Amino acid sequence: MTSPVSYKIVDDIGVISINNPPVNALSQAVRQGLLEAIRSAQTDASRAVLIQCDGRTFIAGADITEFGKPPAEPYLPDLLDEIEASAKPVVAALHGTALGGGFETALASHYRIAVDSGKVGLPEVKLGLLPGAGGTQRVPRLAGVEATLDLILSGTPISAGHAAEIGLVDKVVTGNLYDEALSYTKQLVNDNAPLRRTRELTIDTVDSSLFDSYRQNLDKRARKQTAPQRIVDCVEAAVTLSFEAGQKRERQLFTECMQDSQSVAMQHLFFAEREAAKIIGLPRDIARREIEQVGIIGGGTMGGGIAMSFANAGIPVTLIEVNAEALERGLSIVDKNYAGSVKRGKLSKEQAQQRRSLIEGDTDYAALADVDLVIEAVFEDVELKKDIFGRLDKACKPGAILATNTSYQDVNEIAAATSRPEDVIGTHFFSPAHIMKLLEVVRADKTAADVLATCMALAKRIRKTPVMSRVCYGFIGNRMLQGYFREAQLCLIEGGTPESIDAAMYDWGMAMGPISVADLAGLDVGYKARAALPVEKRGDPRSYRVPDALVEMGRLGQKSGAGFYAYDAETRKKSSDPAVLEVIEREATALGIERRPIEADEIIDRLIFALVNEGLRILEEGIAQRPGDIDVVYVYGYGFPAWRGGPMHYADAVGLETVLARINEFRERFGEENWTPAPLLEKLVAENSSIRLFSPP
Ligand code: 3HC
Ligand code: NAI
Repeated sequence: MTSPVSYKIVDDIGVISINNPPVNALSQAVRQGLLEAIRSAQTDASRAVLIQCDGRTFIAGADITEFGKPPAEPYLPDLLDEIEASAKPVVAALHGTALGGGFETALASHYRIAVDSGKVGLPEVKLGLLPGAGGTQRVPRLAGVEATLDLILSGTPISAGHAAEIGLVDKVVTGNLYDEALSYTKQLVNDNAPLRRTRELTIDTVDSSLFDSYRQNLDKRARKQTAPQRIVDCVEAAVTLSFEAGQKRERQLFTECMQDSQSVAMQHLFFAEREAAKIIGLPRDIARREIEQVGIIGGGTMGGGIAMSFANAGIPVTLIEVNAEALERGLSIVDKNYAGSVKRGKLSKEQAQQRRSLIEGDTDYAALADVDLVIEAVFEDVELKKDIFGRLDKACKPGAILATNTSYQDVNEIAAATSRPEDVIGTHFFSPAHIMKLLEVVRADKTAADVLATCMALAKRIRKTPVMSRVCYGFIGNRMLQGYFREAQLCLIEGGTPESIDAAMYDWGMAMGPISVADLAGLDVGYKARAALPVEKRGDPRSYRVPDALVEMGRLGQKSGAGFYAYDAETRKKSSDPAVLEVIEREATALGIERRPIEADEIIDRLIFALVNEGLRILEEGIAQRPGDIDVVYVYGYGFPAWRGGPMHYADAVGLETVLARINEFRERFGEENWTPAPLLEKLVAENSSIRLFSPP
């Protein structure tokens, strides 16, 4: 097999080139090739060494596909030590994204040159890891302790220019990187530049309380996560120990993190997110429709945020409302959001103005004649939506994609209101739409393949994470949520309090407890939805008597200043309200429920296994393509902790036999209406298999 690393001498410089598509990850073959090349360079006629990469990027990190397999020599830290020990100057030429072990390779080189469009970073924390090849020891020697902690704890890459400002890159160039890097290396040789080994640099001292303040901050910001705390330990070791001892500590903590279930979960999500963007059975290179101009119907909570998502990606939007007043209201919320971004320093005033200028308002559907895509985001009323799609059918040009942001309605029925159901699709954004990453792309029965492929690709363009769902009530996410919310309400009326239910789930890792989520979304939403249904379709009455009673008292949630909690009018800070406990107790009595203490373990298992059970049904019905897609939906759309990997990954980690036994126990205790195990769960347990091995029918 040919090596992905080649070596040749050009004008007295030993040039090591790495060519390992797609992102030049440090596979065993790359490490081996690098080692051989750096060794050759020690004895040949070269006067210095240049490490550069072919393709779209410098090394983007360790090869994540090798994680979990037995480590193979040469080990990266040893290889980097050997590069650093080179008797001839080593220069790394950076373009694209020099990340993780890739950037660590550059840090072990003696000089770093980067093209101005390049980025560098240590994103390991996003995989539940810490930089394991000297990053935590070398960065503080170049950039100081605080800049190191900020870089490694955020995991977010920084520009080459910023990296140069903080001492991580020596020279930033425009133009052809290879030519520039070659002449820079020659210059270093001519200048007799020293072998500047990062390990030999000293670190500026810092007050030890700095580390504690980072740790305390992480207790909140990265609640329950191991890797961020271990990163602080490593950087502290860089300050207090020798380079060699610090490196040893880093290695030990890296190995611990690598074996931790949190990292396994986060690595799973890394690949699940990338898989989710692919549609099974659809060729990757399928022709897509051009989307240069977008229309949005309805400038309410969702329409405004969706408009911003497109404008933020440079795509012009026409926003349609029922009348001038509603349009004014919608656009003023968009203005307020942009002003907020400027105030928080996220955007400059000019950037905000430029983006805002891409959003135009109108009240006439004729303004949609030229758009390539329309997204309908009006009230959740299927008749209204069908009427609008009939009008869009007439107003929009042939080939335009007609999308609905509906949360629950039947996209097939909406498509049937047009003469071109093949152009109709669901694009289900999450609130607030300009911030939330998830986009459920709903493939209706007649949706054309190129329409689907276009929407999946467009999601990436507007920086969303797309997951495809087939049509069912609530699609993947909201359908699963019904059981989760049902159990939250049942635990509440059977003996819990809003605080005890929320605390159990928050402490388990959810971004927010379910009762607080209900208050945030507005209790009137479910109330109105139930009122539109016949009684037998409203679900278990014990699960909605309390929220209905609260709505009837005018307690609609955060927006009315009171729901399950009371909210301070100014700060929106929530507090317990004894009146709510009275309502809960009264409704329990009316339903003949004898309230009992409910432990956190029971709350967690009832809520999470309700999610898992419905997720399994969604899988076997083919609504979701893969288990990982469901995990992506829950982590990016519903505040499920990434370090638990999503509900399906979590169920596998717990063990399906345990999950089934618990569900069967709940069936015994609470009845089969809410607790019938999904047939797929029973099948997988019988086969001694796991969810991750499931492949769609
Ligand atoms: N290892 C193996 N495969 C990788 C990879 C890696 N480090 N990084 C990306 N890939 C694969 C992806 O899975 C994807 O494969 P697919 O086409 O089969 O789905 C392909 O490369 C392209 O990736 P993206 O779709 O993400 O391409 P983008 O252009 O959008 O992004 C990127 C490129 C910014 C490099 C992004 O892929 C990324 O962030 N990668 C991960 C970088 C990372 O985490 N590095 C640190 C690894 S841990 C480490 O280095 C430990 C060390 O400290 C010891
Ligand atoms: P909203 O009530 O905030 O806004 C709806 C807007 O549509 C109003 O401003 C109204 O004036 C406008 N409208 C009504 N009829 C119209 C017509 N014929 N032409 C043009 N505009 C019209 O509603 P929201 O919350 O933005 O929801 C919109 C859709 O998005 C619904 O289908 C909802 O289920 C879905 N959704 C809502 C989420 C949320 O959290 N609010 C999350 C995800 C989806």
